[in-house]
Amino acid sequence: MARILITSAIPYINGIKHLGNLVGSQLPADLFARYMRARGHEVMFICATDEHGTPAELAAAKAGKPVEVYCAEMHAVQADLARGFRLSFDHFGRSSSQRNHRLTQHFAGRLAENGLIAEVSEKQVFSIDDNRFLPDRYITGTCPNCGYEAARGDQCENCTKQLDPTDLINPRSSISGSTNLEVRETKHLYLRQRALKDKLEAWIDSKTDWPILTTSIAKKWLNDGDGLQDRGITRDLYWGIPVKKGSEDWPGMEGKVFYVWFDAPIEYIAGTAEWADANGLPDAAWERWWRTDKGAADVTYYQFMGKDNVPFHTLSFPATILGSGEPWKLVDYLKSFNYLNYDGGQFSTSQGRGVFMDQALSILPADYWRWWLLSHAPENSDSEFTWDNFQASVNKDLADVLGNFVSRVTKFAKSKLGETIPAGGDFGPAEAALITDLSTRIRDYETLMAQMEVRKAAAELRAIWVIGNEYLQSAAPWSAVKTDPARAEAIVRLSLNLIRVYAILSQPFIPDAAATMMQAMGSDDWSWPEDVPAALNALPAGHHFTVPENLFRKITDEERADWQQKFSGVRT
Ligand code: 2FM
Ligand code: ZN
Repeated sequence: MARILITSAIPYINGIKHLGNLVGSQLPADLFARYMRARGHEVMFICATDEHGTPAELAAAKAGKPVEVYCAEMHAVQADLARGFRLSFDHFGRSSSQRNHRLTQHFAGRLAENGLIAEVSEKQVFSIDDNRFLPDRYITGTCPNCGYEAARGDQCENCTKQLDPTDLINPRSSISGSTNLEVRETKHLYLRQRALKDKLEAWIDSKTDWPILTTSIAKKWLNDGDGLQDRGITRDLYWGIPVKKGSEDWPGMEGKVFYVWFDAPIEYIAGTAEWADANGLPDAAWERWWRTDKGAADVTYYQFMGKDNVPFHTLSFPATILGSGEPWKLVDYLKSFNYLNYDGGQFSTSQGRGVFMDQALSILPADYWRWWLLSHAPENSDSEFTWDNFQASVNKDLADVLGNFVSRVTKFAKSKLGETIPAGGDFGPAEAALITDLSTRIRDYETLMAQMEVRKAAAELRAIWVIGNEYLQSAAPWSAVKTDPARAEAIVRLSLNLIRVYAILSQPFIPDAAATMMQAMGSDDWSWPEDVPAALNALPAGHHFTVPENLFRKITDEERADWQQKFSGVRT
């Protein structure tokens, strides 16, 4: 039994995530966690909400709520949707937790002790009426380039030009609207990533089994242009983790907080500590996942994320870990994803374009989405969600292939042979051939799942469903029952057993349907079919089963057209 630590990139708190976000991190991480648990490994699967930073403050202001209240509410919403999609986190934490405060301050303290933090004096806009320094995007004014009157201090939304706040004409505070602004000198902390470049490069070079997507992005950021930049890790915001050196104050840093990207990945660790707290466990319980001096040396750590998150996870977060000089666990395997596009364009949170997690669940259960998203995961290139394709996959793979098999077998068995596993007949050449084929395919499926080849694993699982259908079609128990009832019994015995095996194999992809199949077979034996012939004899003659409700329904042309229309606009 191995020990497997899995983290998914933690979603921003502001707003409900779309299906493109889901398929780029949380969902494939869940697939892998479920598979590894099914194989009997000890798994710790952590996710959380990423709660700090300007977007959270701005979203709270827009919602007219104190930011703490807004974050607590949105965390509950996201946790509920995660449950709706059957994401099997061991803990869904919050980057604003006290655990993360302490750990983030701890890491900053260690980095400072190791000479890896530079204090840099900068000129920054101070709002006299607001009595605070303003982050760039909290300053509004007229764009010097295009004349747009509501340009932000970091960028003009209208012409996309990158700006400096001092470029703006008639600058004003976005908080109060005050124009009573002046430029003052202030200090910020920088993580000296450049000093860690050689260490980081050696570490990345040692990861020869990483996907090309991950390594190429890491290398690009390591070497492109001026190479690795030192990174500002503090901000002038109210909402965030106060800048401290461990538990001590940091002179000159009063009123400042850590940059959201500094504290977010530390939440992977803090989230595991939150898990221990929530379960009344001592620190040793989470440290054995994270500290190589306290039991984590035999842990294998996997991270899942979209490609835009790769630089932070291959450079900045490892710089924090390595720079601490302490024996924290570094990621062993980083699985990254391209983007999922939506019906001829991009999914977009800011523009409300696409299908969002709550909307998806309001029209169909989780398994339908899980199956489509995972079987079309944007692994080797960007992929695209279209309603046609969604309808076709659901109707074919789920309804025609898997659903139909389960329904035909159970209905036929019940009506002709009764509601127990029939005893008659022996397995013959057709069953032997099926078992051989299944054994090969299940071993392939295992390999692909272990390698996190999500699309290929889905294709293999679909093929496993297809061969069951083909077997049933050619063995034709409905004909055999008329001439050779014992033969029909053998076919049905194997097919009912196959439903249980399908439940086990399919569970990581479609957990609800898997539970329904297992329950209908009157079993709770989820042990992995290492030995396929034995697994196909697991439900003995005389064992009771039931006919389940239809596993999957088909999506009609009318529904497809209706949804396409309904989700073509902008969510407000
Ligand atoms: O891209 C995002 O959604 C970020 N909130 C991911 C952060 S992952 C990590 F740093 F915790
Ligand atoms: Zn402009």
